[in-house]
Amino acid sequence: MPIKVVIAGATGMLGQHLFRVFSGNPVYDVYAISRTGAHIPADRHIQLDMTDTAQLKKSMLALKPEIVIYAAAQVNVDLCEKDKDYAYALHVTAAKVLSELPSVKSFVYISSDAVFDGQRGNYVEKDSCNPLNYYATTKMLAEQELLKRSTDIYVIRVNIYGFHATPGNSLFEWAWNAFDKGEKITGFDNVYFNPLYVGTLARLVLKLLEKKVKKGVYHFGTSDTLSKYDFLLSIANAFNFDRSLLQKTELDQSKFKAPRPLNTTLCTNKIVAAGIRMPAFEEGMAELVNDFKKKFANEYNL
Ligand SMILES: NC(=O)c1ccc[n+]([C@@H]2O[C@H](COP(=O)([O-])OP(=O)(O)OC[C@H]3O[C@@H](n4cnc5c(N)ncnc54)[C@H](OP(=O)(O)O)[C@@H]3O)[C@@H](O)[C@H]2O)c1
Repeated sequence: MPIKVVIAGATGMLGQHLFRVFSGNPVYDVYAISRTGAHIPADRHIQLDMTDTAQLKKSMLALKPEIVIYAAAQVNVDLCEKDKDYAYALHVTAAKVLSELPSVKSFVYISSDAVFDGQRGNYVEKDSCNPLNYYATTKMLAEQELLKRSTDIYVIRVNIYGFHATPGNSLFEWAWNAFDKGEKITGFDNVYFNPLYVGTLARLVLKLLEKKVKKGVYHFGTSDTLSKYDFLLSIANAFNFDRSLLQKTELDQSKFKAPRPLNTTLCTNKIVAAGIRMPAFEEGMAELVNDFKKKFANEYNL
């Protein structure tokens, strides 16, 4: 019997790849939860707002998933600051409800590098969290709630990049669109991260479950570190845009409603020691270029 998997947030930048990777493996019988779902086959789609926990619980008790991968989120940090109840309900309460289902044996929670304050960088799993904004606070609170359970809980702290099935406003999409229109943009030269391409991360999540890695918290990320400026420059280079459209700047916290951390690079020694290799940044960028060209070749004349 195939193993029943639910991907919460399956229409998102990461969730779409999780849905594709797991659906392509006959071992799994995959279902998707989200409010919209243009790209999800109707018989696989559970369309609901997960902050309606009564409805969520009712439909999941009927479905009986064995594995839940939680990639649903409100990633707009300023919106989370404005509507704290919603952020808490989506990032903490809904995840807790799913983890408590009697059928669930393994639960993967996609957390964030933002649980750290970014003062130091190269964080290991045991370092103390000190979130600077409410989005990150809810991710930390969710981790704490979930890790109380005896189920196999995997918390993956990570930063990601990619693009949405229906064009959205990720960092990559914002920069690509600006470069394409010949608009000048700036990139923070004092903000560091080691983000994974979403397509790569989806495969690594599958590997994590298949290798039966010990439950707990894991840091995922590229083996190299880059600034947000370096990241934007690599997009300009990869798509042959005019590099002079990009200028360096420094993060000025005063411009944001919610403060942002400066250096959230994650040390990945623990997951590498568990036998899962983390790729170099250029590997993920090459995969993104390939996926982007395949997906948008006609629309963008690539
Ligand atoms: N994006 C980043 O830079 C970043 C960095 C670090 C960590 N992360 C983490 O990575 C994970 C994936 O992020 P992402 O960028 O892929 O997010 P995303 O593109 O914004 O996707 C979010 C997903 O959650 C679903 N969703 C949102 N609110 C919902 C609700 N009330 N009920 C049901 N579904 C809901 C959305 O579907 P509908 O809109 O159709 O409901 C969508 O499928 C998240 O855990 C995030 O915290 C992201």
